[in-house]
Amino acid sequence: MKTQVAIIGGGPSGLLLSQLLHVQGIQSVVLERKTKDYVLGRIRAGVLEQGFVRLMEEAGCADRLHAEGFQHEGTHVSYGDEMFRIDFVEHTGTPVVVYGQTEVTRDLYEAREAADGKLEFNVENVVIYDAETGAPYVEYEVDGEARRLECDFVAGCDGFHGVSRQTIPLDVRREYEKLYPFGWLGVLSETPPVNHELIYANSERGFALCSMRNANLSRYYIQCSLSDSPEDWTDEAFWQELKRRIPKEEADKLVTGPSIEKSIAPLRSFVTEPMQWGRLFLCGDAAHIVPPTGAKGLNTAASDVHYLYHALCDYYRDGTEEGINTYSQKALSRIWKAERFSWWFSSLMHRYPDQSEFDLKMQIADLEFLRSNRAAQQAMAENYVGLPY
Ligand code: APR
Ligand code: PHB
Repeated sequence: MKTQVAIIGGGPSGLLLSQLLHVQGIQSVVLERKTKDYVLGRIRAGVLEQGFVRLMEEAGCADRLHAEGFQHEGTHVSYGDEMFRIDFVEHTGTPVVVYGQTEVTRDLYEAREAADGKLEFNVENVVIYDAETGAPYVEYEVDGEARRLECDFVAGCDGFHGVSRQTIPLDVRREYEKLYPFGWLGVLSETPPVNHELIYANSERGFALCSMRNANLSRYYIQCSLSDSPEDWTDEAFWQELKRRIPKEEADKLVTGPSIEKSIAPLRSFVTEPMQWGRLFLCGDAAHIVPPTGAKGLNTAASDVHYLYHALCDYYRDGTEEGINTYSQKALSRIWKAERFSWWFSSLMHRYPDQSEFDLKMQIADLEFLRSNRAAQQAMAENYVGLPY
């Protein structure tokens, strides 16, 4: 089989890239290790920057997002019983859209299927060859049968555990990582959200986040120990702990109910450089991970897709290679800023096991500065709604 762009991984990055290329008349094949249902079963943050929304519009996939997504014009930050709001629209003129990543992925799958896009599921043993030459190819297996896909370019959209990043030789690749000494215990419940906007809470018992998927589906998180497992937490214990971490006025309004999903995620900051090797380009989680504070995971994947999509359009339309040659540099410049924001916001909101009294005072001073200083709020708002591409 032959195509223009071989896309490894059918998560949001791979699907969005494939659909955008299709709209521009560029062919691709998506190779996904799991099944569609498996990919759609993953629950992840659902806060979309405007840049992401525009890409979904360009991909022709934004109708449901516009109809069912919620525009949030600000967010709440609390510490102890104090709570303040950062107004995104006042500071940046831009809201964010709350729409679950599962729904984004579903919309992209529907569009690819409606356009008869080439998607292969259950692929195994993907190996990328000759990425450093002008004629790369990918070998893989489906049901034990060996297949070969020839292409002009390979897009590595295969997430943190994929093969694409590992294809870049170790003497070229440099990785930067920070692990955080806690996790997030998340609960999804069919209850109305406690507040119509998100609440990021710093409490002496640890971080909490009140988020949502829709008017009757709430998503809540509490900081937990990395040694905890979801079974250690009954629903009742979770709700009690959440109430103790958010301002009393909010806790009194919280509607609780049975959890329909409960899981623990570790927090990590990770970047690999470069994001390109010859004709292999990394996009999304394959190249970088952010801790979830600030919901930048999907949005950083989208900015990579934006740079790569434009580079490929320029290449196929005008034969220019400038975009292709500067992809890594452009993508990384934005990625590091999103890494900085997610790291800063995580550091501001969590309790660390080795935190000294002085560190705690710094955290509170930083929160009070954010609460009272317009420039600090503006910087927070600009980062939250998404820095320009
Ligand atoms: N071969 C084929 N497919 C693979 C391979 C492989 N060797 N390894 C992984 N995959 C698939 C995974 O099964 C997954 O569906 O690649 C896909 C990668 O999807 P994601 O992990 O969702 O990564 P990405 O598309 O970059 O999305 C980024 O998702 O992980 C969140 O927080 C992240 O919100 C961000 C967004
Ligand atoms: C979520 O809704 O899952 C969510 C929202 C905001 C975050 C992280 C997760 O910062």
